[in-house]
Amino acid sequence: MRVLSGIQPTGRFHWGNYFGAIKQYIDLQDAHDGYYFIADLHALTTIREPDVLRGYVRDAALDLLALGLNPERATLFVQSDIPEVSQLCWLLMTGAPLGLLERCHAYKDKASKGLRADVGLFTYPILMAADILAYDSNWVPVGEDQVQHIEVCRDLARSFNAHFGEVFIMPEAKIVPGAAKVPGTDGEKMSKSYDNTLALFGDPKELRKRIMRISTDSRPMEDAKDPETDHLFQLYRLFASEEQIGEVRAIYWKGGFGYGDIKKRLADAAEIYLEPARKRRLDLENNPARVQEILSQGAAKAREAAGNVLQRVQKACGLR
Ligand code: ADP
Ligand code: TRP
Repeated sequence: MRVLSGIQPTGRFHWGNYFGAIKQYIDLQDAHDGYYFIADLHALTTIREPDVLRGYVRDAALDLLALGLNPERATLFVQSDIPEVSQLCWLLMTGAPLGLLERCHAYKDKASKGLRADVGLFTYPILMAADILAYDSNWVPVGEDQVQHIEVCRDLARSFNAHFGEVFIMPEAKIVPGAAKVPGTDGEKMSKSYDNTLALFGDPKELRKRIMRISTDSRPMEDAKDPETDHLFQLYRLFASEEQIGEVRAIYWKGGFGYGDIKKRLADAAEIYLEPARKRRLDLENNPARVQEILSQGAAKAREAAGNVLQRVQKACGLR
């Protein structure tokens, strides 16, 4: 199975990005043909400072490799290194109904708030469809928020195939069961838009400080509490072993504990969990040529795959 997914380099990755998305890519790379890319063309719809974008792309590559994406197994590349995708995007645009895009939430939410929405944001789902269809992808692991875009991709592929013949493979969204919706420091969904994130590779002292500031309720210490409804516990269980989870669960049910103690346990568990990735990231930072080589090799392989599909599509619609 060809598994493909992209992640936008619009900021430093946080715990939510890892447990909600990146970890799934990495778990799938052993059994499948994984294609994973850094969606810099999509990021350009929000990041308009060249140096900032370049920095985020570099950080994204380092983070993904440090977290365990293995270039021997999966293909890692930067979206804009594959011009065939933009060419395919145009071919898809020529037959894409306006109404289909008007219903898409990224554009609709912005427009409904009266904010300026650019054409790039409007056509964003078509570029995403081109990303997917260019590699004959079978499965697309994504978070819930992206499912609508996969539906748009399937609609476009279906109508293209109906008109020009069976050129596209029909992809499927793969919402990974159990992929955590990770809460942020305020208990809402962790997101860089809410300033409630916990960094994967920030300064460890700063991370500890932020963990100590995670919001908690004001019930008396002696009260027994249900761990399953507490966001601090939800965070702890991401990093802890089954045994540690059982121990902390029992502490909650018994009562008589302070949240400060749980926060300390969380900080310790996160530090231990992330330590090997932190070391790998440092090694990679010191070896930019190796990172460049991985991305170049990934791009070469991806271009070959996308080139074949593009030719097939061009022929089908009378361009060759
Ligand atoms: P952000 O909300 O910080 O801007 P993105 O929208 O760029 O993050 O998300 C990138 C990927 O990480 C998406 O696949 C998304 O589903 C996943 N993701 C982001 N935040 C969370 C979260 N709090 N819990 C689970 N998954 C998340
Ligand atoms: N839009 C996706 C996100 O914001 C990123 C993305 C771009 C993507 N192209 C894709 C994901 C193709 C899956 C497949 O998370």
